[in-house]
Amino acid sequence: MIFTVAIDGPAAAGKGTISRRLAAQFGFAHLDTGLLYRAVGAMGGDPVAAAQALSPADLDRPGLRSLEAGQAASRVAAIPEVRAALVAFQRRFARREGGAVLDGRDIGTVISPEAEVKLFVTASAEVRARRRFDELEAAAPGAQDYDTVLAQTRERDARDMGRADAPLRPAEDAVMLDTTDLSIEAAVTRACDLVADALARATP
Ligand code: CDP
Ligand code: CDP
Repeated sequence: MIFTVAIDGPAAAGKGTISRRLAAQFGFAHLDTGLLYRAVGAMGGDPVAAAQALSPADLDRPGLRSLEAGQAASRVAAIPEVRAALVAFQRRFARREGGAVLDGRDIGTVISPEAEVKLFVTASAEVRARRRFDELEAAAPGAQDYDTVLAQTRERDARDMGRADAPLRPAEDAVMLDTTDLSIEAAVTRACDLVADALARATP
């Protein structure tokens, strides 16, 4: 069975959490496409060459989840040649046998416009920054302040939405999910219901 779930949205909206839970629930493979851009940004040197040479081992490098790695990722992600070098791998993943969940910024619009389910997950910048701050605090208490995380969240949103190539925006047929006032469980339940409905239609 070929079945793609595309999950897009800004930083810390809940894409990864929802994607992992969907993958576990339905037995689909999951690709966090942000990691590809984080790895390219962290490699230094020529980002186009880094994207062309990217291998799975590069995705296991420590530190890819840091705020700095997120900023570096969003800078290299604005380069069209970097994006072009990563398209084929993501498209193959999306259409692999057995079902796939991909989360990122352009999955429903560019990587997999044919996806059976498209979800655009949002939340206010303040709530997203608070979530990211709490995550970073749990890993390294006292190492960051909330205002910096909020400023970086806004800066990354603006860069991702403002770029010419594959800007962050919902696909026309995406279902919108605002998690500002939603618990993780409620968001996951809504996503699971959507996928279950689409699966029932795809495999009558
Ligand atoms: O993948 P993305 O950056 O969109 O977000 P995430 O890593 O899934 O979620 C960022 C943080 O927000 C995690 O620590 C989640 O546990 C938390 N979260 C939340 O508190 N409430 C939600 N409805 C969704 C996520
Ligand atoms: O986890 P979080 O939402 O903070 O970020 P991420 O998903 O790891 O993405 C890091 C950066 O990579 C984003 O800010 C985008 O600039 C870029 N990205 C992209 O352009 N296209 C994707 N499909 C995924 C990520």
